[in-house]
Amino acid sequence: MMELDTGVNSSGQRERELSRMERIGAHSHVRGLGLDDALEASEKAQGLVGQAKARKAAGLIVRMIKEGKIAGRAVLIAGQPGTGKTAVAMGMSQSLGDDTPFTKLTGSELFSLEMSKTEALTQALRRSIGVRIKEETEILEGEVVEIQIDKPLGTSESKTAKLTLKTTDMETVYDLGSKMIESMSKEKVTSGDVIVIDKATGKVTKLGRSFARSRDYDAMSGSTRFVQCPEGELQKRKEVTHVVSLHEIDVINSRQQGFLALFAGDTGEIKTEIRDQIDTKVTEWREEGKAEFVPGVLFIDEVHMLDIECFSFLNRALESTMAPVLVIASNRGITRIRGTNYRSPHGIPLDLLDRLLIIHTKPYTETEIREILAIRCEEEDVQMTEDGEKLLTKIGVETSLRYAIYMITAAALCCAKRKATKVDIEDIKRTYALFIDVGRSTQFLREYQRDYMFNEIGADKDDDAMQS
Ligand SMILES: Nc1ncnc2c1ncn2[C@@H]1O[C@H](COP(=O)(O)OP(=O)(O)OP(=O)(O)O)[C@@H](O)[C@H]1O
Ligand SMILES: [Mg+2]
Repeated sequence: MMELDTGVNSSGQRERELSRMERIGAHSHVRGLGLDDALEASEKAQGLVGQAKARKAAGLIVRMIKEGKIAGRAVLIAGQPGTGKTAVAMGMSQSLGDDTPFTKLTGSELFSLEMSKTEALTQALRRSIGVRIKEETEILEGEVVEIQIDKPLGTSESKTAKLTLKTTDMETVYDLGSKMIESMSKEKVTSGDVIVIDKATGKVTKLGRSFARSRDYDAMSGSTRFVQCPEGELQKRKEVTHVVSLHEIDVINSRQQGFLALFAGDTGEIKTEIRDQIDTKVTEWREEGKAEFVPGVLFIDEVHMLDIECFSFLNRALESTMAPVLVIASNRGITRIRGTNYRSPHGIPLDLLDRLLIIHTKPYTETEIREILAIRCEEEDVQMTEDGEKLLTKIGVETSLRYAIYMITAAALCCAKRKATKVDIEDIKRTYALFIDVGRSTQFLREYQRDYMFNEIGADKDDDAMQS
C-alpha cells in the first residue's frame, strides 16, 4: 500500500490563510446565522436581518451536521430572487466553523470547467468531506532572549543568525538558516517575544510578549498580549489535529499533480484508482483510531442550472457511505428540467425533490430592507443621512433589494465627488438617474421594442426566455 501524504501543515494551513483575505463581497457582512442557544433568530444578529424561520431551520441543519448526526441528506433553500437564499447559506458556512468543510459551487460553473460534469461534481463532493487527522509534531516553545542577524557587508554570502531561546528552566542558542531568518523577520520577532516554532515546517507563531518585559513597553499599543515565559523543556511534542478534505488528499497523492496544484486551483481529472486507494486507506485509519470523518456541506447555488445527468449523479452520490450534506438553492418556480422536456417544481426532478428538506425564504418588509441597507452601508464604510436612508429604502421596496444595495457604492462615489462626507438624497437621485433598474429597463424595452433584436414580447412565454 502506498504511503499517503495528507499535506497537513502545508496545504491545510495555507489555504485557510488565503481565504481570510476576502474582500467586501455581496455577502461579506454575513458572519453567522445569528441564532441563540435555543436556535431562535434574533431580529438582527451577525449581519442577518429577519427571515427568522429560514435561519432557524438552517441552524437546525448546522447543529445536526456538527453533532455528526446527518450525512447524505439534502436541503433546498427556495424563494424569490433577492430573498437571502445565498445569504442564509453563507451564514451556515460561517456557523459551521473552520473545521467543517463547506464547498460552494454555482450550478453553471459545472459547465465551464475543463473537465466532465461528473468529475467536477465528484471533486466538489470530496472537497466537502473532511478527514480529521491526529498527528504529533515537535515544536520549540520559548521566550526570545536575543536574536542576532548578521549580514556580511560587501559579500554575496547570505545572512546568518543566532537565536537564543529560554524557558523558566533552560536556555539554548540556535543557528538559523536563511529560511528561518525570513520567517523570523516576517513575524517581526524581537527579544521578549514568546514564540512557537514548528520543527517540521519551520512555521513561526508569536504567542505574545513575556510578562517579564511588560514594564519596558508601557508605551505599546493596547493590543499587545502578555504571556508567561514557558516552563520546562524548550523542545516539546504536541498533538495537533488537522482537517483536510478527501479531495485535497486525492490531489496531493495523484502523481501528475502534487499539492502545488491545490493553490493553482487547476487539479484536472483524478483517476478512479487513486480515489479508491485513498478511501481504503482513510477507512483503515479510521478503524485504527487515527482519523475521523467530518462530513461537511456541499452548497450548490442556482441549482436549476444543473441538467438531468447531474441530478441523477447527485441522487446516487447521496447514497454512498461517504456523502456530505447537500444544500441547494433555487429561485425558480415550476420549470423545465434542463436536458429534458419535463417540467418540475424548482426545475429539480421529483426523485431528488422527494429527498429534500425544503427551507423557504420570504420577501422582506420595509423595515427589514432598511436594516439590511444600513448593515451594507456599514460594511462598505459609507455614511448616509437619515433622509438618504429613507429614500434608498423606498427604492429598495419599489425596485429590488439588490438594486438598492448596489446603489450604495455608486452613491458614495457621487458623494465623494462633491466632497461631502455623508451620502444624501441628491447622491441617491443622481445614481438612480444614472443606473436604471429592471422595471424601468423593461418599460424602456417595451416602448422601443421594434429597435431591438430577438423580440419576444407577446410571443409564447418560454421559461428560459422570461426568467432573469
Ligand atoms: N436577511 C438578510 N440579512 C442581511 N442581508 C441580506 C439578507 N437577505 C439578503 N441579504 C443581502 O441581500 C442581497 C441579496 O440576497 P441574496 O443574494 O442572498 O438573494 P438570493 O435569494 O440568493 O437571490 P437569487 O435568487 O437572485 O440568487 C445580498 O447581498 C445578501 O447578502
Ligand atoms: Mg443567490
